[in-house]
Amino acid sequence: MSLHDRWVEERKHEHYYKLAKKLNYRSRASFKLIQIDDRFNVFREGDSVVDLGASPGGWLQVAKERVGDKGKVIGVDLRPIKYLEGVTTILGDITEDSTMRELLEKFGGRADVVLSDMAPNVGGAYSMDHARSVDLCTYALNVCDRILKKNGKLVMKVFMGDMMDSLKKEVESRFVSVKVHSPDASRDESSELYIVAKGFKASRNVKLKDISEEEERPEFTVKGGKI
Ligand SMILES: C[S@@+](CC[C@H](N)C(=O)[O-])C[C@H]1O[C@@H](n2cnc3c(N)ncnc32)[C@H](O)[C@@H]1O
Repeated sequence: MSLHDRWVEERKHEHYYKLAKKLNYRSRASFKLIQIDDRFNVFREGDSVVDLGASPGGWLQVAKERVGDKGKVIGVDLRPIKYLEGVTTILGDITEDSTMRELLEKFGGRADVVLSDMAPNVGGAYSMDHARSVDLCTYALNVCDRILKKNGKLVMKVFMGDMMDSLKKEVESRFVSVKVHSPDASRDESSELYIVAKGFKASRNVKLKDISEEEERPEFTVKGGKI
């Protein structure tokens, strides 16, 4: 990245940082979801939304604003999420069955939208960060299989890399329409992309009752699995 590009990038970062403070959003990430929703019409009033990797809560704020009082929003994260009016939160790791079960119990029904802004702790080798991000995406797809309504939507972050094509194929096997997008609020030097998928195909759905009964619950197919 040239010095000029870096300068532009820093101004952009500062702009969204200040705007988040001014509008009382908990993170700059809020603007990524706002821009994605403005472009792809993800939310409708009254929707039920599951947000994976939701702390500190910037996406939860946007989701709640956009679905309104009749909507239902729940967020899950490894880190605590400070109280947000009208939003349910779960402290836990979505890759663990106990968290998945708690999510299904607390949510109580199917979702119109699944969001995942989950990110691994970065810092390792680039290809390792990518692999761990794809792994988290696979868990988000498992959540879709268990909780998303027919024709439901998914917005999911992934770090770019060589497994992108196979991940996209996995998403395409579940959704009618799949777009890959980089919102303006994402930093240019970052490797993150957002997959926006619509038209969930219900045939892949696992019945909710299957997971409330321990013995019948299907195993996750992730680590060292399909992707
Ligand atoms: C970029 S932050 C999310 C920011 C959030 N969308 C917002 O607007 O405030 C990514 C989050 O993913 C969470 N995360 C990563 N792995 C997770 C896992 N296995 N289960 C639950 N949360 C996870 C991290 O703890 C982190 O808070």
